[in-house]
Amino acid sequence: MTRSATAAQRTVLVTGASRGLGLGIARKLSAAGYRVIALSRGKSKQIAEAIAEAECGKEGPLHFVAFDLGKVGEIPVLVKNLRKEFGPLYGLVNNAAVGHDGALAMMHNARIEELVRLNTLSPIVLTKYVVRAMMSEGVGRIVNVASIIGFTGFSGLAAYAATKASMIGFTRSLAREVGRLGINVNAVAPGFLDTDMTHGLGGEQLQRVIRRSALRRLAEVDDVANAVEFLLGEDARNISGTVLTVDAGATA
Ligand SMILES: NC(=O)c1ccc[n+]([C@@H]2O[C@H](COP(=O)([O-])OP(=O)(O)OC[C@H]3O[C@@H](n4cnc5c(N)ncnc54)[C@H](OP(=O)(O)O)[C@@H]3O)[C@@H](O)[C@H]2O)c1
Repeated sequence: MTRSATAAQRTVLVTGASRGLGLGIARKLSAAGYRVIALSRGKSKQIAEAIAEAECGKEGPLHFVAFDLGKVGEIPVLVKNLRKEFGPLYGLVNNAAVGHDGALAMMHNARIEELVRLNTLSPIVLTKYVVRAMMSEGVGRIVNVASIIGFTGFSGLAAYAATKASMIGFTRSLAREVGRLGINVNAVAPGFLDTDMTHGLGGEQLQRVIRRSALRRLAEVDDVANAVEFLLGEDARNISGTVLTVDAGATA
């Protein structure tokens, strides 16, 4: 990917960027020339390596910020500090989430609460404070990471599916609310991705997902990262309130 002159002046916050999809998105945006703030609770070896690579190469700068998004009450101060340190935010990618599974009837309430806190409440509150600043700049892009599970459903993922469906409703309504202020809000809905979140799913279950996909394969982290890069770029300036599915045709 060639580094674009426009991207070079733009800062994007990516949550949950220490591994998995968030790491892939942070790498991709940095390679495209964006200045990327990668946020998660802990600085993983992989994000440390990505930061070192960005420092040596021609990529946009990649920074790491440690923060627990479960601490929703501390989000306003987080955003204030980010603005102070990095200046205006052009983009926000709400990617961090947890993927607790299990039959709903047996799921502990604390697990359900954690799912809703991390996957729904926290990105909504984070967006609230980030979008305020975008409103004063008159420009901004928000990409929410949903999931095909939010519209297809999957046994054992009822609570998780509720949180992912909520991100779709959030995306559509916020797009209407802030569009006239120059802010685009979209979502991506990945299918199954091979990350830490899905390490429990394998064997026959995984083969079934592949067999049922139109393209007879799985989408990869890089495919979803490409979609996010597209939604942040100039070519997506007239796209808002949409959900871009990246699932190798699993829901076709
Ligand atoms: N994997 C899939 O098949 C799949 C499919 C569809 C959609 N998705 C969505 O894609 C996104 C990324 O999933 P993934 O598979 O990459 O998950 P993952 O490998 O489990 O990574 C989750 C990321 O979120 C961060 N995180 C978790 N709790 C956090 C907290 N309290 N505060 C801050 N950061 C936190 C983790 O970092 P720390 O632990 O260091 O905090 C990590 O960087 C999620 O929104 C997920 O719902 C995934």
